[in-house]
Amino acid sequence: MIEYEINGRIITNELDTFFQNWKSPPSTETRSKLLTGSYLVITARENGKLVGFLTTISDRVMHAFITLLEVLESHQRKGIGRRLMELAISNFKGYYDIVLITDPDKGGFYKKLGFREIYGMHVRDYTYGRDKK
Ligand SMILES: CC(C)(COP(=O)(O)OP(=O)(O)OC[C@H]1O[C@@H](n2cnc3c(N)ncnc32)[C@H](O)[C@@H]1OP(=O)(O)O)[C@@H](O)C(=O)NCCC(=O)NCCS
Repeated sequence: MIEYEINGRIITNELDTFFQNWKSPPSTETRSKLLTGSYLVITARENGKLVGFLTTISDRVMHAFITLLEVLESHQRKGIGRRLMELAISNFKGYYDIVLITDPDKGGFYKKLGFREIYGMHVRDYTYGRDKK
């Protein structure tokens, strides 16, 4: 059984098995800082083991940005990503905008949760994370 927790605590080392397809995964120091700097962290655990998580930043009234959503490869396609997203969406109910950036091959997943494509702009350091698509 998967247990979900809003504002669940994550120990930085628990993130070692995530970011599997990242060219240059965030360092331990960065992982620690992104956890403490996040507004809302939602965890999914199986028998205590972290199998998925979602992080957000927010102004706490109008805007929320889903910064990371990661489910262990071994646990994908079992509804965990969906549940983590549903919990985040319900937490931000009534907000003007819930925004995220994703790769085109993940678009179908977010569309099933009611997200729509928008026009947006950003500056990204491609040496940091996934390859440029
Ligand atoms: C993307 C990700 C979070 C999806 O999580 P998941 O737990 O595997 O997804 P779920 O099992 O909850 O899927 C929910 C629905 O979306 C569908 N779905 C899952 N991944 C999909 C994809 N890449 N494209 C289209 N649909 C997808 C599922 O088939 C399911 O459909 P259904 O409800 O009709 O049966 C997961 O694949 C992951 O962590 N990937 C690596 C990290 C990543 O890419 N994160 C997102 C970056 S923004």
